[in-house]
Amino acid sequence: MKRHLKVIAPSPFAGREKILEIRGLGKRFESNGRLLKVLDQVDFTVGEGEFICILGRSGCGKTTLLNILAGFIPPTAGEVLLRGRPVSGPGPDRCVVFQEDALFPWLTVEENIAFGMRGPKQAVKDEVEHFLSLVGLTEFRSYLPREISGGMKQRVALARVLILRPALLLMDEPFAALDAQARQGMQNLLLSLWAKFAHTILFVTHDVGEAVKMADRILLMDGDTGSIREEIPVHLARPREKDSVGFLRLLRHLMERL
Ligand SMILES: Nc1ncnc2c1ncn2[C@@H]1O[C@H](COP(=O)(O)OP(=O)(O)OP(=O)(O)O)[C@@H](O)[C@H]1O
Ligand SMILES: [Mg+2]
Repeated sequence: MKRHLKVIAPSPFAGREKILEIRGLGKRFESNGRLLKVLDQVDFTVGEGEFICILGRSGCGKTTLLNILAGFIPPTAGEVLLRGRPVSGPGPDRCVVFQEDALFPWLTVEENIAFGMRGPKQAVKDEVEHFLSLVGLTEFRSYLPREISGGMKQRVALARVLILRPALLLMDEPFAALDAQARQGMQNLLLSLWAKFAHTILFVTHDVGEAVKMADRILLMDGDTGSIREEIPVHLARPREKDSVGFLRLLRHLMERL
């Protein structure tokens, strides 16, 4: 008879296809004649559909890492493979959402969402309609960015990239500028969209609670060495209760390690 091994803590990304491989990544900057080593020997792999949070202190190199993954800047060592192919520049398979909205100020909400879309007019219109409703902005479709709140702008930013169905969504502290209540709303919205579309997400934050709430796996960056100090799978059931024992225990562990 076949014996079954009891799996105590399965990795949340076990059995998934690999989408992203980062191998021996390094980045040095030269400024004012000084050499600054920001990333060094960064190695990790991301599974298809995984929600990864990259957690680290200010200045440890989170944005630099995301910029390399987006193809905006080249690394000085190592390589990034997306579905087995080296990343050498920006591509439609990756989209970035920044902390501050990067909307076109002269375009309306719906025009911003439609901006990157190509295809038959009616199909684009239907898609925009769908995404307006997904992020709850149908009634604000004709507003300009300056006429809506910060939270609403981030919802436009989210709809604008999700409508392009990127394989990889890169987010750089996207909700950091929002007040606590708006931030919570955005976190829940992102989680529901992620459940629906099963994107792969790399989400940079320095907010420990945010990482514990969102991630399948947390990568803890080390500001001194510029590498990943620790990888922490988060096995808490969703939706996650912020005052549950498991949540608080992980929160405390991360606070101590950060
Ligand atoms: N183009 C550049 N030229 C020189 N130094 C740079 C450049 N970009 C970033 N750096 C330096 O690299 C380090 C890491 O910066 P980075 O923006 O990646 O940090 P971060 O973790 O995103 O910080 P924060 O949490 O404050 O956003 C910093 O010391 C920064 O000054
Ligand atoms: Mg940053």
